[in-house]
Amino acid sequence: MPVSYKDLGLINTKPMFTKAVDGGFAVPAFNFNNMEQLQAIIQACAEADSPVILQVSSGARKYANQTILRYLGQAAVEYAKELTGGKGLPIALHLDHGADFEICKACVDSGFSSVMIDGSHHPFAKNIELTKQVVAYAHDHDVTVEGELGVLAGIEDDVEAAEHVYTQPDEVEEFVGQTGVDSLAISIGTSHGAFKFKPGQDPKIRLDILHEIERRIPGFAIVLHGASSVPPELVKIINDNGGRLDDAIGIGEDQLREAAKSAVCKINIDSDGRLAMTAAIRKHFAEHPDHFDPRQYLSPARDSLQKLYMHKCQAVLGSAGHGQEIMASL
Ligand code: G3H
Ligand code: 13P
Ligand code: ZN
Repeated sequence: MPVSYKDLGLINTKPMFTKAVDGGFAVPAFNFNNMEQLQAIIQACAEADSPVILQVSSGARKYANQTILRYLGQAAVEYAKELTGGKGLPIALHLDHGADFEICKACVDSGFSSVMIDGSHHPFAKNIELTKQVVAYAHDHDVTVEGELGVLAGIEDDVEAAEHVYTQPDEVEEFVGQTGVDSLAISIGTSHGAFKFKPGQDPKIRLDILHEIERRIPGFAIVLHGASSVPPELVKIINDNGGRLDDAIGIGEDQLREAAKSAVCKINIDSDGRLAMTAAIRKHFAEHPDHFDPRQYLSPARDSLQKLYMHKCQAVLGSAGHGQEIMASL
């Protein structure tokens, strides 16, 4: 039996992006794979009064099961109400890097409010055709769709691209016009994972390409993938406690702030959450070698995640304080 996200209290990304464009901020899109990550996301967003996009990747579906993740998304709505004295938060449940029409359809039918169809590895015409097919089905169910143009370097769903293929600004109008997507992920030098730049490389992203895209499609919601900052203090805790993450480098917060103030309405963060959990767990075990109850080491991991997400909303993306404003616009 198909389930609509509307019956679960979720919303699609349209009202979030409308406010993000007007307000010069970006909505956080945090990946989650388990209950502790979800709790930390909702605790942080409730405290910061931030809208949030909960992202489910193909790796998450394999690890946790899509049905379980959908119910966790539903639980997030109720948990947010509990934490905000009944007011609730604007929460979207989003498929991250949907590879084909079938997975996007399955997510729409199971209660997701937003899907990404990632046709970026296909030739331009095939990307348009596939994205259009997903948009037709999703829009019939009031589900919003994110497309992608350009390829990020690094590992994306087990496919490794050695070099960035930057988004070509002269393709975006045709892509957006022909497909009818609600948002567009672009490639401007960010990449997935914790090793985004090589030591000695200038760790800069191509904000000039972003601004040229913004000039061509003003007011349209742009998405940044691979936007973790890889905080050096977390890498240090990991390495000081038995880890080996040499040369992990991320995207500078100042560049993300600038992107969020312009056309970027959604910023994807996964790796920083992984680092925060790992750092807390490694430290906990180093200090308490006798502990073996998962609650003992997952509690500090969850606290550390919550702190990280709060920082993103308040100090980087600017989404803090916009939650109730979006709720009031629904
Ligand atoms: O797109 C990349 C995300 O970080 C998800 O990665 O498929 O390993 O969960 P994953
Ligand atoms: P990071 O690996 O930089 O956190 O990016 C996550 C992402 O883009 C998920 O789609
Ligand atoms: Zn991504």
